[in-house]
Amino acid sequence: MAEERLVAQGIVKRYGSATVLHGVALTLRSGEVHGLVGHNGAGKSTLLKVLAGAVAPDGGTILLDGRPVSFASPAAATAAGIACVFQELSLLENLTVTQNLFLAREIASAGILDKQAMRETARRELAANGLNLTGDEKVANLPVAQRQMIEIIGALARNARVILLDEPTTALERGQIDRLVETLRRIARERDVAIVIVDHKLDEIFAVCDHVTALMDGRVVLDAPIATVSHEAVVESIIGQQEAARLQAQAPAVHATAAAKPSPILTARGVGAPRGLRDVSLDLAPGEVLGLYGLAGSGRSRLLRTLYGLEPVGHGTMRLRDRPYRPQSPRAAMREAVVFVSEERKANGFIPDFDAIRNCTLPVLRRHAWGGVIRRQEAEQEAIGVLERLRVRGDIHAPMSRLSGGNQQKALLAKAVLQRPQVLLLDEPTKGIDVGTKAEIHAFIRSLAAQSGVAVLVVSTEEEELLAVCDEVIIMQRGRCSGRRHEAARLDSTTLRRLALETTPEPVLA
Ligand SMILES: Nc1ncnc2c1ncn2[C@@H]1O[C@H](COP(=O)(O)OP(=O)(O)OP(=O)(O)O)[C@@H](O)[C@H]1O
Ligand SMILES: [Mg+2]
Repeated sequence: MAEERLVAQGIVKRYGSATVLHGVALTLRSGEVHGLVGHNGAGKSTLLKVLAGAVAPDGGTILLDGRPVSFASPAAATAAGIACVFQELSLLENLTVTQNLFLAREIASAGILDKQAMRETARRELAANGLNLTGDEKVANLPVAQRQMIEIIGALARNARVILLDEPTTALERGQIDRLVETLRRIARERDVAIVIVDHKLDEIFAVCDHVTALMDGRVVLDAPIATVSHEAVVESIIGQQEAARLQAQAPAVHATAAAKPSPILTARGVGAPRGLRDVSLDLAPGEVLGLYGLAGSGRSRLLRTLYGLEPVGHGTMRLRDRPYRPQSPRAAMREAVVFVSEERKANGFIPDFDAIRNCTLPVLRRHAWGGVIRRQEAEQEAIGVLERLRVRGDIHAPMSRLSGGNQQKALLAKAVLQRPQVLLLDEPTKGIDVGTKAEIHAFIRSLAAQSGVAVLVVSTEEEELLAVCDEVIIMQRGRCSGRRHEAARLDSTTLRRLALETTPEPVLA
């Protein structure tokens, strides 16, 4: 039996009148990877923040190697050997990769920073984890997946005895996830570390964990060695028995047939952009959900950003409703009813101090204000309706920064929908969303297309997601996309991945 590294007992956390942790117990053993699961807002991040010294608990005890500890700050926890990768990435964007990796653990000799040693170590650690970087890159210029990898490398490199990872795989693609799973298992065993991973993707939990704990509304509802529990049992402990049964009974998505499709609302021909887009052609029609799949770095997010006016077009043509389309800014795109939900919710999603309702109505009110009359209440009622439909849990009248990560994501989707888009661009739409709500959101996206005629373009690293939500999928490779469509109903994850890797021209599907 592995030794107990960290034992938390009776952890209580209250925010105002709301209790979010009701006496939670968690035992982490050295050499083990421990999965922490639960619905959005269950209290997972809060629990990790308590263990990492970022949030002060209102009750309970923590023993580290048998001795009681209490951390007044994250720095105190770090000093005690606890490393944490928080859900919202926290790299300092204006520093380089190396500077971030060595933050608060700089290599120095005789009081002088040894920059050369740090650069070499950084490069080695980056390469060992499949990142082809020099370390001199500014973090701000890197894609999300790489930033996430760098955070994880930073935590692993700190020689911690306890490593806490809050949804570390949300921006990673399959290959990176496989490598991370392998690394975590190896590190746990070889260095005798206790690792916690919060993750909504249960296949990953089953692949990497020795033990699993599920929280529901701030209480432990499951705590068992992973080998003793079934997939269904874990789902049930996350969303409840009733909900699990309902989910099982839900009919699979009905995919639209290609024949009935109207002419495209948005087209791109030979589009290139200075940073990473080379030659993209695509058609997007009202009422369809089109998937865009590709490996990390293939230009998926860049394409969405270009369509939304966040990045300039270098060459090629784009047309919207049969007129030339070249948005100079998101505002210009929004005026054309083109709306984008970014995968970086922290950076460009919402105003943290405004409540969810206000965040949702903000772009709409601004639009209405030009007419002189603002129908605030009407807009708010509509916002509340959509927030409820997407099952946002938590206080939608409190600052949005207080919602859990998954619930913030739902609020951002609501905000996008309330803008009544005709073209909806979604980058990782269910990032951080629990298994119970995920299917709900897929159904919601499909109904937007089917019932309101919205043209939806979805980027996702999760193959299963694209296959569930899209009618057809187009593939991007190294900044190029031919626009050739692959019917989702005829694809599976493996085929999709193979298509993204293929270097020869894509085969024509029957
Ligand atoms: N600073 C805060 N003030 C008030 N309430 C908060 C604050 N931080 C978190 N909460 C609430 O605590 C509850 C638990 O949130 P937490 O972030 O721990 O959930 P989670 O399980 O990590 O969810 P997710 O899967 O969406 O990340 C939520 O209802 C959230 O709204
Ligand atoms: Mg969380």
